[in-house]
Amino acid sequence: MESVGDIGRAEPEGPSESWSHQTAGSEAVDDRRSPSPSLEQNVNRRTFVARAVSFIGLAAVQGLTPAWAAGQPIPPDDPTRVPGSSPSAYGQRSTFEDVRRLVSSSHSLTPLHRLHGVITPAALHFERHHNGVPLIDPARHRLLIHGLVARPVIFTLAELMRFPSVSRTAFIECSGNSGEEWREPKGKTAQETHGLTSTSEWTGVMLTTLLREVGAKPEAAWMLAEGSDAAAMTRSIPLACVLDEALVCYAQNGAALRPEQGYPLRLLLPGWEGNANIKWLRRLELGAAPWMTREETSRYTDLMPDGTARQFTFVMEAKSVITSPSGGQRIEPGFVEIRGLAWSGRGRVSRVEISTDGGRTWKPAQLQEPILPKCHTRFRLSWRWEGQDAILQSRCVDETGYAQPTREALIGVRGMNSYYHYNAIQSWKVLPDGQVLNVHV
Ligand code: CO
Repeated sequence: MESVGDIGRAEPEGPSESWSHQTAGSEAVDDRRSPSPSLEQNVNRRTFVARAVSFIGLAAVQGLTPAWAAGQPIPPDDPTRVPGSSPSAYGQRSTFEDVRRLVSSSHSLTPLHRLHGVITPAALHFERHHNGVPLIDPARHRLLIHGLVARPVIFTLAELMRFPSVSRTAFIECSGNSGEEWREPKGKTAQETHGLTSTSEWTGVMLTTLLREVGAKPEAAWMLAEGSDAAAMTRSIPLACVLDEALVCYAQNGAALRPEQGYPLRLLLPGWEGNANIKWLRRLELGAAPWMTREETSRYTDLMPDGTARQFTFVMEAKSVITSPSGGQRIEPGFVEIRGLAWSGRGRVSRVEISTDGGRTWKPAQLQEPILPKCHTRFRLSWRWEGQDAILQSRCVDETGYAQPTREALIGVRGMNSYYHYNAIQSWKVLPDGQVLNVHV
C-alpha cells in the first residue's frame, strides 16, 4: 500500500553548519579606525587572502565543506570596503543558507525546526504528489465546471483572473502528517515528525463566484475536483461544508503557485486535509452523491478498532509541535526560548500550553499576533534549563474548545489501526548533555 509513511532519514544536523557561520563571523575584524587607508587596504588584502586560505585549509583538515569553500564567492573581511553585487531580476537566498526540504519519492517535508514566523517560504512548502509534478503551460490550461449546473463553462486562466480576487492565509496539512508516530517515536526531527504542514497566503477566486457563473443547481450536494497530474487525482467534496471559504487559487505568497503546489491552478479548502485541496485543478463536476474515487475508498480512510473505517474525514484537528528545542537539536544551559507552531482546521488557536515535565504541569505559552483562523500560529515560552531531566510538550486548544489529545487518549478512541489524522501531543526529551530526542511518554 502506498503511503506517505516512507519518510526518509534526515541528514545529520551536525554542528558543522553553524560552525562555518560562526567562524566566518568571528574572523571579521572592525578596522575602520585604522589611520592609513592605503596601508590598511594592502594589509587587508593580505590578511584577507591569508585568512581565506587558512580557513579553507582548516575546513579541509576537519572535513568540512562550507558553501564558499566549495566554489562559492569568498566574503571580504570588511564588506564596507568592497562594493557589493548588483541588483538581480529574481532574488536568491544567501549562499550561506542551506535550509531545505527532506525529499522522498512522493513527498517532501518542510523544515519546521529551522523556520521563523508562520509563513512557509514557497520553496520550502511541503509536497505530496500522487504521480509527480506535471509540466503545464498556463496558456493551454483550462478549468471545466459541469454536472448539475445550468451552463457548463470552460475557463481559461486569464478569465479566472478577471473575477474578483481574494487572498487569505491558511495552513495545508497532509492527513498523513505524523502518521509514522502512531506506533513508535520514529522521526528524529520536527521536520520528520511534523513536516507535512505549511502555511501560505493564497490568492484566487471564491468558488461561490464561479458556481454563480455556471448556475449551480440546488440539488448539487457534492463536487468532484480533479487534477491534471498523471494520477488525475480526484476527491469528492461535500459542497455545503466548503462554500464559505473554498478558493480556486492561482497565487501563493504573492506570486504564481509553485509547480509542486499546483501551478497554474489549485483548490484551497482551508482546514481540510491536504489531498482534498486538489492541485493542477482542471475539472469541477457538481453531483448529488460522492463519486467514491480511489483516494477516498482504498486511501485516506481511517480504520477503527472495531474494523469499520471512517470515510470523508476532511478536517485537520487541533495540533501543535515545539520546533525549538526539538529532536536532533542540542541546547546549552541557561536561558532557552521554547518555540513552536500550533494550528487547527476548525478555526483559531485559542491557547497553547507547555509542559517541561512530561505533562505533569503546564504553563500558558505566549501567542504571536495575528492569530488567524486555520493558520499556523507561533507560540513561545521563556525557560531556564540547568541540566535537569526534561520532557517538553505542547498542547493546543482551538476556539471550539477542542483540546489536542495525549497519545493515550487518541489511541483510546482511534485504536492502533489508523495512519491518517494523528494529532497527539509530541514529546521531546532533553538529555543531561542537552541533546533532544523524540520519545513517547
Ligand atoms: Co481524512
